[in-house]
Amino acid sequence: MQKNIQFFGFLIILLCENPVFAIFGPQDAQYNETEARMLLNLCAAAYSDDATPCIGRTFSAAENQMVISQFSVKCDFIGNPCAGYIVVSEALQQITVVFRGTKTNSQLLLEGWTTLHPSADFYGMGLVNTYFRSGHEKTWQYVQDALSIPQYRNYDVYVTGHSLGGALAGLCAPRIVHDGLRQSHQVKVLTFGEPRVGNLDFANSYDQLVPYSFRVVHAIDVVPHLPGCVKDLSYTPPAGSDGSMPCDPGSRNGGYHHAIEVFYPGNMAPGDPYMICTGLPRNEDFGCSNAPKVDLDDTNQGVWDHRNYFGVEVPAYGKGGCDPTMTFKGPPTETGILSLISSVFGRKRRSIR
Ligand SMILES: *[C@@H]1O[C@H](CO)[C@@H](O)[C@H](O)[C@H]1NC(C)=O
Repeated sequence: MQKNIQFFGFLIILLCENPVFAIFGPQDAQYNETEARMLLNLCAAAYSDDATPCIGRTFSAAENQMVISQFSVKCDFIGNPCAGYIVVSEALQQITVVFRGTKTNSQLLLEGWTTLHPSADFYGMGLVNTYFRSGHEKTWQYVQDALSIPQYRNYDVYVTGHSLGGALAGLCAPRIVHDGLRQSHQVKVLTFGEPRVGNLDFANSYDQLVPYSFRVVHAIDVVPHLPGCVKDLSYTPPAGSDGSMPCDPGSRNGGYHHAIEVFYPGNMAPGDPYMICTGLPRNEDFGCSNAPKVDLDDTNQGVWDHRNYFGVEVPAYGKGGCDPTMTFKGPPTETGILSLISSVFGRKRRSIR
């Protein structure tokens, strides 16, 4: 009897301690598409000068999501910006940090991250791409300032972004935990079309620091395959396959993704299937976006899939205030800047994972 009482006492302590893990407890480490669609709207809004129309169409008035900070800094030598904004809901006790993606296709070309392998130390967490680290350094102060506001100090933090914005989110989130601004369970990341920001060491550090993290990938979006990973040369592609090879989960040299890919093979219409990619190699699941060979020669479709998530062309949709009646053009067939990019890549005749 005595033992039972002790046992139940122990149980009660356990149960009472649970609320310490406020919002992002282990039971919540599940992909939530509704949430992802809402965050995509915020990512789209980052392409606009005024995020409030998108915010108004996405969240209920009761949540009272308010923009408390907006930033745009020169990110490269021709003045392309790294930009974003921060919203707070006092009702939900939640902060959301939103990074803007690549503004123009010329930025996509000029960034250089398409070919640069991770080479810069990121606070002892591993190597990351120098372009992304530089963008992170230039935007970090805004995040640090907002998260340090005493009134918000215990608020949970979402970090999100599309494209380059996803890369900046992928550096910002682990930095938040590394610097002690929040604990791991208080940070949640959702990105769209995120490139490989760092190497294997960085991916491992990231997964320790930010366990609640989802990278949404649309079909043959080319950007999540950049910079390339090192291929597993011990793998023999089966006869009749397109020759695709998995990433080497032991190599520190190439790019390597952090967890967890959410792969949409189709158009991302409501109800379309998706896969939670926790198969091998870890974080580079060969059953998901890495399965087909991605030829940089296919860049037209690859860039189109990159700009289109959940049925909207993300930058245009955001500039239009996330109006649900907007319509968008289909994949490109004409020549133009996209085929220019294609021809630049095409000359190299490289294939990537
Ligand atoms: C998914 O997210 C939405 C929006 O935040 C929320 O209302 C819903 O309860 C979540 N669903 C689950 C199963 O957590």
